[in-house]
Amino acid sequence: MPDKMQNIIALCKRRGFVFASSEIYGGFSAVYDLGPYGVELVNNIKKEWWKAMVQEREDIVGLDSAIFMHPRIWEASGHVGGFADPLTECKKCNSRLRVDHLLEDIEIFADEKMTEDEINKLFDTHKGKIKCPTCGKNDWTKVKKFNLLVKANLGNFADDWSKAPVYLRGETCQGIYVNYLNVLDSCRVQIPFGIAQIGKAFRNEITARQFIFRTREFEQMEMQYFCSPNQEMIEYEKLRQNRWQYYLNLGISEKNLKWHKHENLVFYAKEAYDIEYNFPFGFKELEGIHARSDYDLSQHSKFSGVALDYTDPKTKEKYIPHIIESSVGVGRALLAVLTEAYNEEQMEGGETRIVLKFPAKLAPIKVAIFPLLANKPELVEKARSIFNELKKDFQTEFDDSGNIGKRYRRQDEVGTPYCITVDFDTLQDDTVTLRDRDTMKQERIKISEIKNILIEKLK
Ligand code: GAP
Repeated sequence: MPDKMQNIIALCKRRGFVFASSEIYGGFSAVYDLGPYGVELVNNIKKEWWKAMVQEREDIVGLDSAIFMHPRIWEASGHVGGFADPLTECKKCNSRLRVDHLLEDIEIFADEKMTEDEINKLFDTHKGKIKCPTCGKNDWTKVKKFNLLVKANLGNFADDWSKAPVYLRGETCQGIYVNYLNVLDSCRVQIPFGIAQIGKAFRNEITARQFIFRTREFEQMEMQYFCSPNQEMIEYEKLRQNRWQYYLNLGISEKNLKWHKHENLVFYAKEAYDIEYNFPFGFKELEGIHARSDYDLSQHSKFSGVALDYTDPKTKEKYIPHIIESSVGVGRALLAVLTEAYNEEQMEGGETRIVLKFPAKLAPIKVAIFPLLANKPELVEKARSIFNELKKDFQTEFDDSGNIGKRYRRQDEVGTPYCITVDFDTLQDDTVTLRDRDTMKQERIKISEIKNILIEKLK
């Protein structure tokens, strides 16, 4: 694993951003917990997404659908039949690996729609060149397709479907499709309009790779936009531009983003692009933007028996709405933001400063307050009174442990843009020092002006 990735993983644990799940029990593969700074950062990422997707849009509304859904939904969506990854096992060390990933590593690209036989043929042609990444041997089992849906042991007592397995949702958007009619009937929306949702999804991922990049439990931020058939590709282009801009607004530099057009499409997609981010392990999918045609609503109409077509109030044209979607994993957005922000700087005297240069709107803590000395009650009291005021408006931290230099380093490592120190001059003239994370410059400001200065600087 590249050094930068190792350093980010170590920082995430050391500073309470991300913890491996169930660590005291030896861990639980491909599941992670968010620590105190991680949850603040993720909340800010989600807030920015919601602001761009819902708050600033007249044509998009929010939703929070349940994780459990009728089992038929996953048949209609195609997930029961088609949502499977091709799996092989190394006969020497028993590592289970995704065949499409192994082939990708030697520049052979498998089609998502391939049957088990077809992918076996492709793998047979190339497997002689593929060594097991774990043990280096070259001895593979036959390829098997492995369904990604996670079954839940939930008694489904109420209806005829009591014998069908209930699944934890594999993507959040199905909850949007099955609420399309509810939203249309209850809100003042007309096509084109969108429904946005943030929520957990679960997948039986075969290989869990690269920290929080691919996990078995993850959160998605998805927006589904319902439009007429002839508007679909026009809206799709608009959505692509819009989503690119979103990442620039999050402070991601353009050189670290690129488009990847899918030649081999997933079972529901008519056209699909990924926005890829330059993670420490290379450019990989951050977000998927898909033109899904009328596939989803046609399927749900067929399986539920409920008409889901739309009649245009002006033209009287009747059609099943087409859908374009934007779908991004919160964990991947978090990893991109962390990668972008992570900096190691050489200081005078040879010390290395690790600093997370988040845009202020994403920073978990906006301002930290320090009394210069912890054993001077008058300094502590003054610093506490400033802290008690500021915490009403900003995510604020109070710290009086260790010397000031150590406290600055700690805040740099969690990306706090501003630190305020209360010293002996404060007791004389009611001023404090305000220290900037990125420039490390300090300025003297009046206590009475702190709030307004922070509001301005944190914009
Ligand atoms: N509704 C469409 C959909 O779910 P997808 O390409 O399977 O499409 C969309 O997933 C996004 O969800 C991906 O671009 C990625 O950001 C995130 N994602 C998918 N599987 C993930 C996993 N196992 N762990 C973390 N994020 C994942």
